[in-house]
Amino acid sequence: MSHLFPTYQRWEIEPEKASGTVIYAKDGREYLDFTSGIGVCNLGHRPEAVEQAVKEQLELFWHVSNLFPQSIQEEAATKLAAASGLDYVFFANSGAEANEAAIKMARKATGRTKIITFLQSFHGRTFAGMAATGQEKIKQGFGSMLETFIHLPFNDLEALSKEIDSDTAAVMIEMVQGEGGIHVVTADFIKEASRICTENGVLLIVDEIQTGIGRTGKPFAFQHFDISPDIITVAKGLGNGLPIGAAIGKMELAEHFGPGSHGSTFGGNPISTAAASAVMDIIFDEKYLTEVTAKGELLFQLLDKELGSLGAVKEIRGLGLMAGIELTVAAPPILAQLRKSGLIALPAGEKVIRLLPPLSVSAEELEKAVLIMKDNIVKTTVTAS
Ligand SMILES: Cc1ncc(COP(=O)(O)O)c(C=O)c1O
Repeated sequence: MSHLFPTYQRWEIEPEKASGTVIYAKDGREYLDFTSGIGVCNLGHRPEAVEQAVKEQLELFWHVSNLFPQSIQEEAATKLAAASGLDYVFFANSGAEANEAAIKMARKATGRTKIITFLQSFHGRTFAGMAATGQEKIKQGFGSMLETFIHLPFNDLEALSKEIDSDTAAVMIEMVQGEGGIHVVTADFIKEASRICTENGVLLIVDEIQTGIGRTGKPFAFQHFDISPDIITVAKGLGNGLPIGAAIGKMELAEHFGPGSHGSTFGGNPISTAAASAVMDIIFDEKYLTEVTAKGELLFQLLDKELGSLGAVKEIRGLGLMAGIELTVAAPPILAQLRKSGLIALPAGEKVIRLLPPLSVSAEELEKAVLIMKDNIVKTTVTAS
């Protein structure tokens, strides 16, 4: 018997090793991994430069505590600040923890309590993350939630203008709702929302945990829009598999996040920050991001061409290398078929197939994956009808 709590419904594939876009399973089969460990291994599995950086840090020290100055943390923070246009970084170990830091920072800096988030959003599984999340299924069975969070319809400016008041500390939003079904924010909404926030002394927090670190063709997805968030949160792709998260904020917030205000034993761990620093050297290069944009365009061209006219496909949407294919039928049986055909993809809600290939994916791999999808969507839906 397994001694693990059954919190995850696990797949039938046990990985033995992984490299680039491919997972080699214990049963001898090979799979195209279009999940990247749920948006984590953006450079593919085991990229050499990151492995090297980790090995070098392993030879120096693994952990000393945040009571010591650590140049590897400063190095990673400098790169995050430069790429985001923000000033200060708090390192955590995960996305939910990065959001906790952002929420605490916003409440302390404004002295206000209300945080506005959106329906279908996902912000993590801690108590504040869960309360911030705009999906009922995440909260079921856990009793009363923190009252500080209000959920509004996504991209609804009227609802937002009505809700913002003198007790609103922050608006927290994803530029592309990942877990919630790949819904992209509209440019008009986010620009106006940002303006209303500034006008009312409300902080804008952009949750870049799934969209950040090059996923959409920019270092951070907010950079597709004409806005300047006060805080952004990242995790997932930052360490390419080494656990790390970060809340990155504007200069003015520093005075509210001084000694004793927040902390984490493992946050900013030197092995993880060494990995993050190496990841950013590769991904934040303009040429690399131009290639990601081109691959994203290719992916959407292929999806439109091969899947766009299938009866079971309702809508194809996304940004960069973050794609959602909304079906008219349930996604899980099709995802199971895809795995049998050698392609691993994710759900995002009941009817959406979510693709998060590594940014290092090749054109051939994109083409192969789309054809596997076409074949299986046709087969599964014909059999079902
Ligand atoms: C947008 C977003 N926020 C927060 C989280 C939570 O991150 P973690 O699982 O690292 O706590 C996730 C994870 O899927 C996410 O996609």
